[in-house]
Amino acid sequence: MRIFKKVGNTLHVLSFPGEEVEKGGYLIVEDKKLGKSMIAQVIDIQFANVPGMMEELLRSPNTDEVAQGEDSDPLDIMSHILYIQDARLLICKIYGTLVDGKICPDNNWLPSRTHSSVKKLPTETLLNLAGITKGLLIDLGVTHDKAPLSIDACEMDGRLNIITGKKGTGKSHLSKLLVLGLVQHGATVVILDINGEYTNLGLTEDGTKTENFEKIHVLSPGENFKVTLYQTNLYVIMRILTYALNLPGTSAREFRHIWRALEESGTVTLHELGGAINRSKCNQHVRDAMYSRYYAMVHSGFFTDNMAEAVDLEALLKKIENNGGGAIVINLSNTSPTDRQIVVEFVLAKLQEILSQWKIKAAFLFAEEAHLYLRETYWDDAVTRMRHYGLFTTFVTNQPNTINENIYRQADNIFLLNFVNEHDLEIVSRAARVDAETAVSIVRDLPPHHCLVLGKVVKDFPIIVKIKPLNIQTLGKTRYFFKERKNVD
Ligand SMILES: Nc1ncnc2c1ncn2[C@@H]1O[C@H](COP(=O)(O)OP(=O)(O)OP(=O)(O)O)[C@@H](O)[C@H]1O
Ligand SMILES: [Mg+2]
Repeated sequence: MRIFKKVGNTLHVLSFPGEEVEKGGYLIVEDKKLGKSMIAQVIDIQFANVPGMMEELLRSPNTDEVAQGEDSDPLDIMSHILYIQDARLLICKIYGTLVDGKICPDNNWLPSRTHSSVKKLPTETLLNLAGITKGLLIDLGVTHDKAPLSIDACEMDGRLNIITGKKGTGKSHLSKLLVLGLVQHGATVVILDINGEYTNLGLTEDGTKTENFEKIHVLSPGENFKVTLYQTNLYVIMRILTYALNLPGTSAREFRHIWRALEESGTVTLHELGGAINRSKCNQHVRDAMYSRYYAMVHSGFFTDNMAEAVDLEALLKKIENNGGGAIVINLSNTSPTDRQIVVEFVLAKLQEILSQWKIKAAFLFAEEAHLYLRETYWDDAVTRMRHYGLFTTFVTNQPNTINENIYRQADNIFLLNFVNEHDLEIVSRAARVDAETAVSIVRDLPPHHCLVLGKVVKDFPIIVKIKPLNIQTLGKTRYFFKERKNVD
């Protein structure tokens, strides 16, 4: 391989037949005289554009066709021409310089064209050099050259993450892998599970319990997840009323008075609340507005006056933290859109309250298709306030345009699976940690179950990994009518 040119942080390298390089693989350009090496990733492979190549291709026969007659190439020039015809141009992005075994981000030097050597850099060597193999490891799978890739759970701690890719490429699978990895390292994880596909995280494919079984707590709103109004303090209830049920300002003020009166008399129950709204001496419209919200709350089946059947989220979170980690799966699959918002608003407000009072250290939140239940303002909250309180969100979606642009700019780790749509690619390439060209060029060709990992977990060296299989029961799969014909498992 030889260096051809360098423009900015892009390096063009010529490779000849026999020097096969994979897209996404790394090269090391060593300049012995300067005593340093450049590390670059191959993001595209093209034919070398030699002048006159088209004419040559038009004139010369295909070598596979049987040649008849005399040998008209006595000097054996043909083999050289073929060699050049098959030469490739590797478009690479420079990701740092290696000096004395240490990587530094200096890209501002030119290796010699004549005496520097260009070689493949095995991913395993790169992982060791960059220090990606240390810490609380979560095994993701293997890279194209069979190097195992494990990421450090600490690099997800305090961070904002995105998992995105087209439908059916393995986003939820990767997200489950990360959840289990975090749980095994003792973390507290809360999952907003829109399709009910995380509910069997503790079971293997044949239905036996895994070592995580006791650590996965599935809460289905209205069934085994109900709360009393005593647990729902004024702050939480006001968030539910204003954000999930859109109660206008005047009615909200009146509601606050009623709630305070109930608190003073120690009778904050659904039953008493209904009566108090009825008795209130306010304007008819205001009363109707409050009453309709009250009914929505009652009909959600999420609130109860029976202490015995109520779940204490705070106690559960504390128990998880003391027992060395676990996950709470909020199963939203059988919940209507309005009820979903009520439940999510309750869970988030409660989490914020628990975290702000330091009752638990921190928690990881996994939100699938968050636009279906998160209110607009949560996006900004996620990058600012919630992060300070110790709630670290991972957004999972197959529609990248549903994630707020701010999240892309601030995301610390991005897991990209395949995308072909130009519009989707353009959105994901806006992320600050992503080199737009790298993302567009590599992600377009990723096979299913392969992921381009970007950000802090890979020390900003984009790495392609084939995500390992998981022996857990997969739910939330697409159901098919012509299953046998499709030969789908
Ligand atoms: N790395 C993997 N190894 C083996 N099987 C996998 C892997 N990743 C995903 N699968 C399987 O592929 C199927 C689709 O995966 P998954 O549900 O994670 O996709 P998705 O991107 O979340 O899809 P959707 O957009 O529909 O939510 C599942 O049956 C899953 O078990
Ligand atoms: Mg999914």
